[in-house]
Amino acid sequence: WHVAVLMGGWSAERPVSLSSGEGIAKALESRGHRVTRIDMDRDVAIRLHEAKPDVVFNALHGVPGEDGTVQGMMDLMGLPYTHSGLATSVIAIDKQLTKQVLVPHGIPMPGGHMVESTSLFERDPISRPYVVKPVNEGSSVGVAIVTEDSNFGNPIRRDVEGPWQHFAELLAEPYIRGRELTTAVLGDRALLVTELRPKSGFYDFDAKYTDGMTDHICPADIPDDVTEQCKAIALRAHQLLGCKGASRSDFRWDDTQGIDGLFLLEVNTQPGMTPLSLVPEQALKLGIDYAELVERIVEDALA
Ligand code: DAL
Ligand code: MG
Repeated sequence: WHVAVLMGGWSAERPVSLSSGEGIAKALESRGHRVTRIDMDRDVAIRLHEAKPDVVFNALHGVPGEDGTVQGMMDLMGLPYTHSGLATSVIAIDKQLTKQVLVPHGIPMPGGHMVESTSLFERDPISRPYVVKPVNEGSSVGVAIVTEDSNFGNPIRRDVEGPWQHFAELLAEPYIRGRELTTAVLGDRALLVTELRPKSGFYDFDAKYTDGMTDHICPADIPDDVTEQCKAIALRAHQLLGCKGASRSDFRWDDTQGIDGLFLLEVNTQPGMTPLSLVPEQALKLGIDYAELVERIVEDALA
C-alpha cells in the first residue's frame, strides 16, 4: 500500500500525535509499505491530493483531527482513512454529547454538566470532590480535580493555576474515587483491561507520557465480573457510537462498590499509538505486535 500518515496538526496533543505518527510510519515501512508523512497544516487537502495515497492513516489526536473536521474533508475527497468517520468523531470528541448518546442505552457514566469557568470563582457547580475538564481535549489536557482541601477552600482562587484560566466553559463531573481502568476495542473485539497506577497524583499528561511515572497492570488485578463489565461496556459503546478500526474506553472504578462502582468516562476514537500507549500494549499481550496492529487498522479502513 501507499499510506499517508497524517499527524501533528495544531491541537494541544500535537507532540503525542507526532509520536504516534512516527511509530506508525516506521511500522508500515518495516512491512514494506510506501509511506508519505504529512504533518497537518491548513494546506492538508492539497498535500493529500498531491500524494494520492491508497489510504490515510489518521494519527491525529485532539481538535482538529479527532473531531470529524478532517474526516469530513477526506470523505469529500473520496480518500479511505483509518478509525472512525465523521458522525462518530463529532459525538465522541465531546464528552458530554457522548453521555447523551450512551446513557439512554444503559451505559453507566458520571453525571455533571457544563459550567462557565469563571463561575467556579464564585461557587462550586456540584459538591466536592469533582473534576473539571475541557469537553473536547485529550491526554488529560486541562483536567483538574477539586477536592475538599485543594485550591484553598471555596471558591476556587483566581490565582490558582487551572483550566479555568484557559477554557471559557468546562465540564464538571463528580469525582469517582478509586481506580483508573481502560479497555481497547479492535475491530469487533474488546481486548483486555489495564489498570493505570500513577506513582503520584492522577493519570495526567506527564503520568501518561513519561516513562516510569505510571505502572500499567495488564491484565488488571480486579474481579472477573468487573473485567467482563469493562469489556462489555467498551464493545457496546464502540458499536453504539459506530466506531471503526480501534477505540479505547476509559473508566473509573470505585472498588468499594463492586460492579456498580464502574463508570465509563469517555471513548477515544483516535487512541494513542506512542511507545507508552495502551492499545498497542493490550494488543501485544494478545500476540498482536505493533506492526500487525497498524496493518489491521489499515485493512479495516480498506475493507
Ligand atoms: N488522547 C490520547 C492520544 C489517547 O486517548 O490515547
Ligand atoms: Mg481522551
